[in-house]
Amino acid sequence: MCEMNLNDVNPYLHGLYAPVREEVSADDLPVIGEIPRELHGAYFRNGPNPAEPPKGMHHWFDGDGMIHGIWFENGRARYRNRYVQTEDLKLNGASPLGGIFEPSREAAGRKVNYRDTANTDVIVHNGKLLALWYISGQPVAVDMETLETIGAENFGGKLPRNISAHSKTDPQTGELVFFDYALYEPKMWTGTVSREGALTQFQEIGLPGPRLPHDMGMTENYVILHDLPVIFSEQAIRNRLWQIHVADQPTRFGVVPRKGGDVKWFEFPTCYVYHVINSWEDGDEVVMAACKMVPNGLKPDPKYGPYAAMADVLALRAQPFLWRMNMKTGEGREEQIDDALSEFPVVNNAYAGRKTRYSYHVIFDDCIEQRFSALLKYDLQTGQSERHDFPKGVYGSEPAFASRTGAIEEDDGWLVTFTTDMDGKSEAHVIDARNFSAPPVARVTLPCRVPAGFHGIWAQGAQ
Ligand SMILES: [Fe+2]
Repeated sequence: MCEMNLNDVNPYLHGLYAPVREEVSADDLPVIGEIPRELHGAYFRNGPNPAEPPKGMHHWFDGDGMIHGIWFENGRARYRNRYVQTEDLKLNGASPLGGIFEPSREAAGRKVNYRDTANTDVIVHNGKLLALWYISGQPVAVDMETLETIGAENFGGKLPRNISAHSKTDPQTGELVFFDYALYEPKMWTGTVSREGALTQFQEIGLPGPRLPHDMGMTENYVILHDLPVIFSEQAIRNRLWQIHVADQPTRFGVVPRKGGDVKWFEFPTCYVYHVINSWEDGDEVVMAACKMVPNGLKPDPKYGPYAAMADVLALRAQPFLWRMNMKTGEGREEQIDDALSEFPVVNNAYAGRKTRYSYHVIFDDCIEQRFSALLKYDLQTGQSERHDFPKGVYGSEPAFASRTGAIEEDDGWLVTFTTDMDGKSEAHVIDARNFSAPPVARVTLPCRVPAGFHGIWAQGAQ
């Protein structure tokens, strides 16, 4: 199949997913409704945005990272989008590294096997944004006001390897609590960087084989690592190929003291988990809430040609669960919160690592392409939920929870998300978390399209 046809049949290069080429800045954006005065801060969302038309097979996960940001202050909003200027992007198409449909390669001085795009999520640490990558790469520091790339962050040369997407910052201590994994080695690592940017802890964890975790849990005192049964075959490891399968083995979560120490493993019925909702400590138990994958029941669609399998894998279907791990007895218990399907969970990040009552999830449209047609607000104590539907034909991003300035209650604030329709019109929606099913209190018209993407975060004005 020629190059032209390949890009034509890749659903993740068209419509909602088509990359935008321009970097835009716009102030004082038009608003439908009213931006609350107590909404002060910024919402940032990362995602793949290939800088050049792909030349071969292209996975949605391969696109160069682009961050879209909207800042709210005094009832007004401004927007910007900027590429994350990674080492590979700066090479202008001359990077020796490729995407995950290609065999992995080595590049001098690089600790990654594929083109490191920093496209997956974005977190706030030490007054900066850090753009992170799901295959565990070099964090890229980005200015929170301008979205200009500051540069690759190695914490004064002290970072031994890489940092994976879904590493977290602790809102109480300001620390960056991170994990790292190697594609073809039976190891994971975890560590801590202080609020000021000093590496204070680093530990290697041995595994039965190489693993492909996507997220981790963080509590006040522990990190929860994921040993999941989606793995590379022996042959894939030998030939360094991205060929994964589901192995017949249990799921294990490893609880590691944040200050360093032995890992305690807990075995559970086999499952894959992309995203953790939140984790906390409850007496002797370490508790992790997360979205557990269930089969999507869809048949790969032949209209996508060689991308049928990719499209099928991207049709995420999951249900919220709790895993309780007793550090005294070593016993683990799994509890289902609800049977509704949702993913991309977020909480009020001021409570990350502490018990949360509420979480906010994305509901997928009932089609094979990954489209977010509604949001769910969960009460994790009762399993009850409320739903917020986007208008028909309008699709959201992973939202972030924005606290009302001076808020005391966990859900006193708004969900902020970007939306895009099939005509390419984008908005930012501000949804009252306590009047969740109601229409947004404000819809901000954006000056350009925001393609569907991955993860978002809120930075409170004081940050
Ligand atoms: Fe993710």
